[in-house]
Amino acid sequence: MPEKISEGKTKIIYKTPDKDEVLIEFKDDITALDGEKHDILPGKGEINATISAKLFEELERGDVPTHFISLDPSKPVMRAKRLEMIPIEVVCRNLAAGHFLQRFPMFTKGEKLRMPIVEFFLKNDELHDPMLVEDHLPLLALASGEEVQKMKEITRRVNAVLSDFFQKIELTLVDFKIEFGRDSAGELMVGDELNCDSMRLWEIDTGEAFDKDVYRKGGSLDQVKDIYVKSLRRIVG
Ligand SMILES: Nc1ncnc2c1ncn2[C@@H]1O[C@H](COP(=O)(O)OP(=O)(O)OP(=O)(O)O)[C@@H](O)[C@H]1O
Ligand SMILES: [Mg+2]
Repeated sequence: MPEKISEGKTKIIYKTPDKDEVLIEFKDDITALDGEKHDILPGKGEINATISAKLFEELERGDVPTHFISLDPSKPVMRAKRLEMIPIEVVCRNLAAGHFLQRFPMFTKGEKLRMPIVEFFLKNDELHDPMLVEDHLPLLALASGEEVQKMKEITRRVNAVLSDFFQKIELTLVDFKIEFGRDSAGELMVGDELNCDSMRLWEIDTGEAFDKDVYRKGGSLDQVKDIYVKSLRRIVG
């Protein structure tokens, strides 16, 4: 394999002969609860790479700028534009769930929010990913005020395109997390991944979770694998 640029808990980024491109290998690792939980789920990397590729294609069709180039034939690998990543997580929520409910217990689980909301978090394990208000981004030199507005706009567009896509396959997009980066021309775009690790999807009819919540809530690895395989079939066909 070529030279590594970086490695996190779930992905490895490799250099390619083209300095503006990277290969992203999706690992079989699954983690939750700030890294407290960690397991290996054979086949998960391939599933997540395949779902990510499909959802990035949907976004490109919906005129959302993304880093996606292609899914490599050696499946757990995706080819993408090399980005200078902004170390924040941008979360968009349609229904109350997860951390939002812990912060604001006056909402009930699954309650539809009056409008989709966009939240920013600093990616910093030591500080446990603190929530940011918009002014913190220019203050911490993470992004300009203009880029903050652009990220919010793109995130809302991602939400609209994906909510529509999932509705057609009878899933509700409850919330999701994306990451942004800048390409060599300084252009802002969606990078990283988009799959069952980074979103909540509930089946419209049954309310069944089609995402990593099954793992967070202590499901067996077999149950978790079943859900990832079911999600792959539903999303990619
Ligand atoms: N197109 C890209 N170019 C360069 N780096 C990228 C690109 N897309 C994603 N990355 C970065 O790849 C890194 C590895 O991903 P991974 O999700 O495994 O780790 P992480 O998010 O840093 O840490 P964690 O282990 O908490 O998830 C991340 O820092 C991510 O921001
Ligand atoms: Mg990550």
